[in-house]
Amino acid sequence: MKKVLVTTKLLKSNEERISKLWNVKLNLNGKIYSETELIDLSKDCDAILSSILDRIDKKIINKLSSKVKIISNFAVGFGNIDIEEAKKKNIIVTNTPNVLTDATADIAMLLILGASRRVVEGMKWAKNKNWKWSADFLIGKQLSGSKLGILGMGRIGRAVAKRAKAFGMEIHYHNRSRLSQELEAGATYHGSIKSLFSDIDVLSINCPATKETEKIINKETLNFFSKNVVITNSARGDMIDDDAMIQALKDNKIFALGLDVYNGEPNIHPGYLQYPNVFILPHLGSATEKTRNDMANLAIDNIDEFFKTGKCSNKVN
Ligand code: GLV
Repeated sequence: MKKVLVTTKLLKSNEERISKLWNVKLNLNGKIYSETELIDLSKDCDAILSSILDRIDKKIINKLSSKVKIISNFAVGFGNIDIEEAKKKNIIVTNTPNVLTDATADIAMLLILGASRRVVEGMKWAKNKNWKWSADFLIGKQLSGSKLGILGMGRIGRAVAKRAKAFGMEIHYHNRSRLSQELEAGATYHGSIKSLFSDIDVLSINCPATKETEKIINKETLNFFSKNVVITNSARGDMIDDDAMIQALKDNKIFALGLDVYNGEPNIHPGYLQYPNVFILPHLGSATEKTRNDMANLAIDNIDEFFKTGKCSNKVN
């Protein structure tokens, strides 16, 4: 019987399903495995069902047992895995596209709303019970009539666009290449990030973490935005240079920031915790029962397809 290491804690129903299929090592306590634990625990396994918290880089891939033939990542993003190095070792890497699009786009809207409407400060005032309503109390930014810039107009970016349109926002985007008219659905394409960033009121980051997008929001590109911009990130922490962003907050260059993802998760740069205009969530993008269930089933199906056919339709390398 095939052996599978599951590095993250799954929903109970998914644990039950995978346990019926193969000989599995579940992570019942939700411990974040160290590099050594990951290598040791997977030594006798044919597959690893990994999560975004597993940094499976070149060094780890080269230490994995040759028995491991597939890493099925429980995520649509796979920036946590060196997919080229895995390919060299004949390990296929798979992801879970589509199933988390809606849940993640919902969280992107929540970040946009929470940051624009000063939710952090509002909650604090409400809890302290000492607030006084007045016409100028906690004035936020109105979404209708404002311009939303989407960096990365893939499935999730387009789902954010659809939602934002319902809020009356005008959609602008930048992608490596322009989308077809049908996929663009009336959004305005910008050929450069400078053109996009300098023309918008709110930014939603929805691109994948790659070498090209790493720290794409940095000291230089932060200068492209107008002073009162709202910046949100529901994709990956890698896209933001934290030091530059915290300096921009300190210099009052942005109206508000909404973050669901961070460099070095589960850590959060302490600089972000100092500002009342930073609305932060603990990577909740896909955190609904339906979505987590669908993601686990797809990650399991990916392994199953590979065991049965030697291939997988959700292979990314
Ligand atoms: C979540 O962050 C994912 O990439 O699925």
